Amino acid sequence: CGIVGYVGDDGVLEVLMDGLSGLEYRGYDSAGIAMAESSISVHKRQGDISALEEALPDGSVEATAGIGHTRWSTHGPPSDANAHPHTDESGRVAVVHNGIIENYQQLRDDLEAAGHSFDSDTDTEVVPHLIAAARDDGADRESAFRRAIGRLEGSYAIAVVFSGSETVYAARNESPLVLGVGDDGHYLASDVPAFIEYTDRIIYLDDGEFARIDESTVVVTDTDGTVVDTSIETVEWDAEDAGKSGYDHYMLKEINEQPTAVRQCCGERVSELERTIDVDSLSALSVPERVQFVACGTSYHAALYGARLLRERGVPATAFLASEYDTATLPVDESTLVVGVTQSGETADTMGALRGANGAGATTLAVTNVVGSSAARTCDHVMYVRAGPEIGVAATKTFVSQQIALAMLACELTDEYDDDLVEALRDLPDKLQSILDSSSGREIAREYLEADAYFFIGRGYNAPVALEGALKMKEITYKHAEGFPAGELKHGPLALVTDRTPVFALVTAGSNPTKTIGNVKEVETRGGPVVAVTDGCDDVARYADHVLEVPETHSALAPVLGNVQLQLVSYWVANELGRSIDKPRNLAKSVTVE
Ligand code: G6P
Repeated sequence: CGIVGYVGDDGVLEVLMDGLSGLEYRGYDSAGIAMAESSISVHKRQGDISALEEALPDGSVEATAGIGHTRWSTHGPPSDANAHPHTDESGRVAVVHNGIIENYQQLRDDLEAAGHSFDSDTDTEVVPHLIAAARDDGADRESAFRRAIGRLEGSYAIAVVFSGSETVYAARNESPLVLGVGDDGHYLASDVPAFIEYTDRIIYLDDGEFARIDESTVVVTDTDGTVVDTSIETVEWDAEDAGKSGYDHYMLKEINEQPTAVRQCCGERVSELERTIDVDSLSALSVPERVQFVACGTSYHAALYGARLLRERGVPATAFLASEYDTATLPVDESTLVVGVTQSGETADTMGALRGANGAGATTLAVTNVVGSSAARTCDHVMYVRAGPEIGVAATKTFVSQQIALAMLACELTDEYDDDLVEALRDLPDKLQSILDSSSGREIAREYLEADAYFFIGRGYNAPVALEGALKMKEITYKHAEGFPAGELKHGPLALVTDRTPVFALVTAGSNPTKTIGNVKEVETRGGPVVAVTDGCDDVARYADHVLEVPETHSALAPVLGNVQLQLVSYWVANELGRSIDKPRNLAKSVTVE
């Protein structure tokens, strides 16, 4: 979910709607806004923002304060009633919330026993009722808000408006919340794209902090109400970076931005002159006894890749799905480095694992794209992947940047800079560009549009990319797709292979091409079409129906190139099928619930 709030004279309705558009990648099954003057007007609808637009009032709006929400359902299915904002029965208070209130059932039972009645199935609706109850007890607005927040257990970024007030109150615990400092008002949101076209001056809130914004002031306080000294930071990208720049979809734009993303990620960290890789923020790290990666989704595939790079350099390293990471059953201590790989820096599963690792005494490192994100602030160290804003729900350029960042991390941690890798990193953007310029991914997509399923195989460094290829295909095409380390195909999945199941085989130097070709032959013999993604090694073309070429590079970087070919095939399949590429059904880019 995403929340937004604004107080100022720039046109509250427009700012809130722009904010929701900028946050739609966080959820899009319903949306709503509330604007406060002497009374509160609430407009909300199931569906995406265009459905809400149709429900908006005609004519001018007098209000200067408002809040908005775009939803990814947790408690209660998408419906008008379950859409935020939620209000109390008298309509004095309106609330938007991102996160999960774990004790909501108890709170709701208590409130119902006290005579409150509820309109929705959501956990959030208890909040306006708690605030209204505190107001009835005589508390002023801010005290009533703080009292209600004090009763919540769970994760939340919450924003509230009151009738008769031009102030927005907000609080954060384990869900992201940033404030924007403008010339003509103040903003708050789950993420910066919500208001980047209005201001690039940001204050990041910490867990346990409260904020109060009105037209002229921003006040941040701690749990006791003591004012917190905050610093204003400037974001380094602008509204244009967060736009589509003429592409049909953010995803295609972001795929095409990968050469730039790699350049940014390497930047001054890679010195061609001295043939070294030096990541400032990591200089304090010594070689740990073991490294554990925690991550979800696409980032988990980058983590698998990173773990392999470290193992190859002699460091015991394992990648865990963050939701399955359990310090009670693992060796985790001061000599363990736990690396959270998360483009958003907000994924609840990953944050949970990182907090567990901190609690167990491990050193923690966030590898993330979002400056000031929860992961960046929770970990002892942070390495930014510098991909620039990624809006498409399916991760593309952040994955490539994570791979590059983890390659640099492996060098930095072990002090092993191999000359070839430094050179290969330097050449990588041009090689990525050559794939983007010449890929026949669109033709391959058309050829296999009617496929029953798509399979992806690869060994060694290519195995995580096989998993990623399948995940991308599933996410945006809704077609069945599976990825396997190539050797596993014969241990079961081969039973699924027919002439209607193309198998994409990643065959590149340094990742056991000869054995992978053996697996390709197993597919061919059973009538399965094969698309080889290859740098030409071992003449795989002889056994494949189609070839997607990648330029030769360092063996550890070949999967970075192969992945781009697979991204393009998935994109074009989804495009031909007319799917909602940037906002696939049921998904959200940043999942802040466990
Ligand atoms: C969500 C997204 C995935 C993403 C995963 C991890 O499920 O839909 O595309 O890979 O979260 O996100 P993170 O921000 O932690 O990398």
